[in-house]
Amino acid sequence: MSVLKIVALFATLLHSLIEAEVIYNSSSAAKDDWWKYATYYQIYPRSFKDSDDDGMGDLKGITSKLQHLVNAGVTAAWLSPIFKSPGIDGGYDVSDFRDIDEKFGTMSDFEQLIKTAHELGLKIILDYVPNHTSDQHVWFQLSKNKTAGYEDYYIWKKSYNSTTPPNNWKQITQLNEILLSDKLLLLPFTLNIIRGNTRVLMSEGYTDINNTMKYYGNDTVDGAHFPFNFFIITQTSLNSTAKEIISAIKLWFQHMPSKCVANWVLGNHDRDRVATRLGLENVDGYNMLTAFLPGALVTYYGEEIGMENGEVTWEEGQDPGACNGLESDFNSESRDFERTPFHWDSSVNAGFSTGNKTWLPVSSKYKTNNLELQSKDGVKSHFHVYQDLMKLRKEDTLIYGNLNVEVLATYVLAFTRELDGNDTYVFIFNKGNYSTSVSLSSFKSLSGNVTVVLSSTNSSRNKGDTLSTASIIMDAHEAIIAKSRSNVSVCWNIYTILLIMVLLFRIS
Ligand SMILES: *[C@@H]1O[C@H](CO)[C@@H](O)[C@H](O)[C@H]1NC(C)=O
Ligand SMILES: *[C@@H]1O[C@H](CO)[C@@H](O)[C@H](O)[C@H]1NC(C)=O
Ligand SMILES: *[C@@H]1O[C@H](CO)[C@@H](O)[C@H](O)[C@H]1NC(C)=O
Ligand SMILES: *[C@@H]1O[C@H](CO)[C@@H](O)[C@H](O)[C@H]1NC(C)=O
Ligand SMILES: *[C@@H]1O[C@H](CO)[C@@H](O)[C@H](O)[C@H]1NC(C)=O
Ligand SMILES: *[C@@H]1O[C@H](CO)[C@@H](O)[C@H](O)[C@H]1NC(C)=O
Ligand SMILES: *[C@@H]1O[C@H](CO)[C@@H](O)[C@H](O)[C@H]1NC(C)=O
Ligand SMILES: *[C@@H]1O[C@H](CO)[C@@H](O)[C@H](O)[C@H]1NC(C)=O
Ligand SMILES: *[C@@H]1O[C@H](CO)[C@@H](O)[C@H](O)[C@H]1NC(C)=O
Ligand SMILES: *[C@@H]1O[C@H](CO)[C@@H](O)[C@H](O)[C@H]1NC(C)=O
Ligand SMILES: *[C@@H]1O[C@H](CO)[C@@H](O)[C@H](O)[C@H]1NC(C)=O
Ligand SMILES: *[C@@H]1O[C@H](CO)[C@@H](O)[C@H](O)[C@H]1NC(C)=O
Repeated sequence: MSVLKIVALFATLLHSLIEAEVIYNSSSAAKDDWWKYATYYQIYPRSFKDSDDDGMGDLKGITSKLQHLVNAGVTAAWLSPIFKSPGIDGGYDVSDFRDIDEKFGTMSDFEQLIKTAHELGLKIILDYVPNHTSDQHVWFQLSKNKTAGYEDYYIWKKSYNSTTPPNNWKQITQLNEILLSDKLLLLPFTLNIIRGNTRVLMSEGYTDINNTMKYYGNDTVDGAHFPFNFFIITQTSLNSTAKEIISAIKLWFQHMPSKCVANWVLGNHDRDRVATRLGLENVDGYNMLTAFLPGALVTYYGEEIGMENGEVTWEEGQDPGACNGLESDFNSESRDFERTPFHWDSSVNAGFSTGNKTWLPVSSKYKTNNLELQSKDGVKSHFHVYQDLMKLRKEDTLIYGNLNVEVLATYVLAFTRELDGNDTYVFIFNKGNYSTSVSLSSFKSLSGNVTVVLSSTNSSRNKGDTLSTASIIMDAHEAIIAKSRSNVSVCWNIYTILLIMVLLFRIS
């Protein structure tokens, strides 16, 4: 045996000494309450489904389409604000948290939505925005005229002169008191909603990791069930390497207080669509990535079919932030592009509305990308991948299992989820533009062959195909989830390897 061969063998053996990094240990409490492993589907009510031809989505529209959430396999719908609002800030300027805005319907439409959702086994979550009340909200009025008890609901500052408004009227200091006070928090709704189930509270804020973690609370101060994890959004982009993506994931686990539940958000109403931001061909890979991680998952409407940003002109713009700015900044500032109506089917207005005009234009891309086309039996589609992912998330391994991560190549990463006595699952994602050969040897729980359970839309692999863990050629943008039937630990420890080397030297 030549020296070269021995060096090569040595390199291979050395590589098998490298172990994938465990970044999350299994949690036996992962399934003791529904919210911990749920998938939350964010609905932007204006753009989901219009029931009355006025071109804007509404509650009856949502109710009529709840079956889609069941078909997709999600647990809960989170509705962006539907409360009474003068609409100066796109409905985020709430004037009464206890009433429904007429744009969306009535309280009885809302009660019907809840009833239908519960019949379908879905949960409903509302978007409560205490930091952004309307100046027409009674709290603001009471605070403004210094009614006792309300003085510090807002931070009041003297304006520079009598003609300019105070500069930070939006801040509310009594956040905790308001959140914990049922008399203020949606009293008419609560009785319908609780029914012995845990009500989940998530918090949203764009801040650094240390501040974000404070929203989990601690032994002395109550917090949210989880603060939204926007770090995959803010710390990764189209060109991110496998290492950068893994760092963004590790960031959360490294800072999360013990016994807390992680969560993963890929897109929302404030950020470009995933297909536009991270690449259309990577949509399945990213959906698989976030669904594969331990904890809760949040999906923005349309991401299950890989919608791209819509086309909206300055004249058609609706986002107050951008419309109050300069036309030249519209394309970079407006959030209208990720808020265009959902693509239900190939009919007029993508099946969103039968009105003559929609509040934001329906993207022309609906003709080639819509739910109806993606739902056809036998076609490989983003939606079918998403449905399979939701089924997979119900497996014990994906609920309780460890998470191990490894960079396999500059643009290829792999994770495993492992649980004693259960199948090990491995996720491999080549987000790069070139096909790349990789090995899974650093995952000690995988050995020999693994069986494909799910592959991205463009992958040539199919369910049931076997892959050798020693060498897999991953096509550009290909993503695969495979499983290893046995979870017997392979004793490739240092002694085994030394023994083999001794034998090899003897042979040569
Ligand atoms: C996982 O558990 C092992 C063994 O208890 C421990 O050594 C390791 O630090 C843990 N890792 C994490 C990321 O919690
Ligand atoms: C509330 O809103 C104000 C103004 O937009 C902002 O400066 C502040 O950071 C927000 N506070 C929280 C807790 O989000
Ligand atoms: C303060 O405003 C509230 C709400 O508009 C109103 O009901 C109340 O009468 C006002 N009080 C005073 C002293 O002006
Ligand atoms: C009030 O202050 C603003 C901002 O400093 C300034 O633009 C405006 O001219 C002032 N108005 C008067 C009447 O002084
Ligand atoms: C978070 O806090 C840690 C420890 O106090 C500190 O080392 C780190 O720099 C902080 N991170 C950020 C992003 O502020
Ligand atoms: C708990 O959280 C509060 C609010 O963030 C903080 O002031 C306090 O120091 C924390 N307590 C402990 C023991 O970490
Ligand atoms: C990605 O890299 C390409 C060059 O390979 C560059 O043209 C492009 O601007 C980069 N995109 C982002 C979002 O960084
Ligand atoms: C992959 O190709 C796309 C489209 O040509 C390009 O935008 C992107 O920057 C490329 N990625 C890398 C990592 O170069
Ligand atoms: C599949 O690959 C083709 C050719 O590279 C590309 O045009 C298309 O966008 C890809 N589709 C998906 C869903 O990735
Ligand atoms: C749409 O426009 C047609 C022709 O102008 C009109 O007859 C019809 O009433 C309009 N439909 C709606 C829902 O506004
Ligand atoms: C799989 O894991 C679950 C949860 O730990 C356990 O209850 C079950 O027995 C395991 N399955 C097998 C076949 O061991
Ligand atoms: C592993 O899969 C390859 C094909 O990818 C096949 O040739 C080989 O027999 C399989 N080995 C085992 C042990 O199943």
